[in-house]
Amino acid sequence: MRRKRIWAAGITSCMSILLFCTCAEQDMSAPDRLYVGVACYNQGDTFLSEMLDIFSEQVQEMGSHGTETAVAVRDAVGSQRTQNDQVKELINAGCNVLCVNLVDRADPSEIIDLARENDVPIIFFNREPVAEDMMQWDKLYYVGADAQQSGVMQGELAVDVIRADSRVDRNNDGKIQYVVLEGEAGHQDAIIRTETAVDTLRSNGIQLEKLSYGIANWNRAQAQNRMLQMISEHQNNIELVLANNDDMALGAMDAYEKLNYTESARPVFLGIDGTDVGLQAVEDSEMAGTVYNDKEGQAEAMAELAAALVSGEGMEKINFQNGKYIYLPYSKVTRENIDMFTNRGK
Ligand code: GAL
Ligand code: CA
Repeated sequence: MRRKRIWAAGITSCMSILLFCTCAEQDMSAPDRLYVGVACYNQGDTFLSEMLDIFSEQVQEMGSHGTETAVAVRDAVGSQRTQNDQVKELINAGCNVLCVNLVDRADPSEIIDLARENDVPIIFFNREPVAEDMMQWDKLYYVGADAQQSGVMQGELAVDVIRADSRVDRNNDGKIQYVVLEGEAGHQDAIIRTETAVDTLRSNGIQLEKLSYGIANWNRAQAQNRMLQMISEHQNNIELVLANNDDMALGAMDAYEKLNYTESARPVFLGIDGTDVGLQAVEDSEMAGTVYNDKEGQAEAMAELAAALVSGEGMEKINFQNGKYIYLPYSKVTRENIDMFTNRGK
């Protein structure tokens, strides 16, 4: 038992391809063996690295219930070509299900062809392929969340903060001067979050003035740079920063910190994700709120679906939309309800 646990931990943590190959030599068709190959667009991404840690734990736990499990994670570091090669390697190493977080969500065809030739089902996650590509084969699934819902919730959080505190409108002109920090161009979560957050503010009667926006690819350091540029252009006039994710909201806060802005001269910051650092910033009242991107729920849905696809059991219990999609709901997080989130999964 102890040996088995050490073995499983070794596989999931070092992700050694050698170990993975060793297990592949066993009978791949056996339904009690769950070998998951995970392809991630960039493991430096805070939200995804937290989600994948939870996913590996979940699969490992299934191992303690009589199934032999292994998870191998590959990091494409932003290159679709690298990811295609990694998927080939994972299939050759013997994984019997793939979880793919595409680098380019519009370019999954090579990966789908490889999987179909080898009859290995794919669960895409977090970066949603376009609908036509999802129709290419009947063993393609998607686990993620509804971007529109996160934008609406971020907008509602902003409305609450603006209504509760007249000092947010610092220059008292009846309008909120705002900037947006956007994720990757072309990512479903970036475009939709921005649009719906702003629409929600407007439909709640908040007068807005957009000062600027910056694309920062979900990344804290890039967001800091973009924010420094926007501050140099607009000085004290920025009253609200809507960031498509927590890391970029934190990067914006870093910029104000670097320039030594006093608390009362800083704008309101809102993020999305509820990463560990994001939640901490809400707890410390540095960030007004965030929208929880349910990494535990997504990891669990992916692990359950992977197990069901391999064993052929339990598919009927899964609540799909349109036969192949699973969307986990978002939730609003403020200082008032933060305990519900900091203790999740612990
Ligand atoms: C989003 C998440 C971002 C980033 C991105 C990567 O859902 O909010 O922080 O992880 O996915 O695709
Ligand atoms: Ca104003």
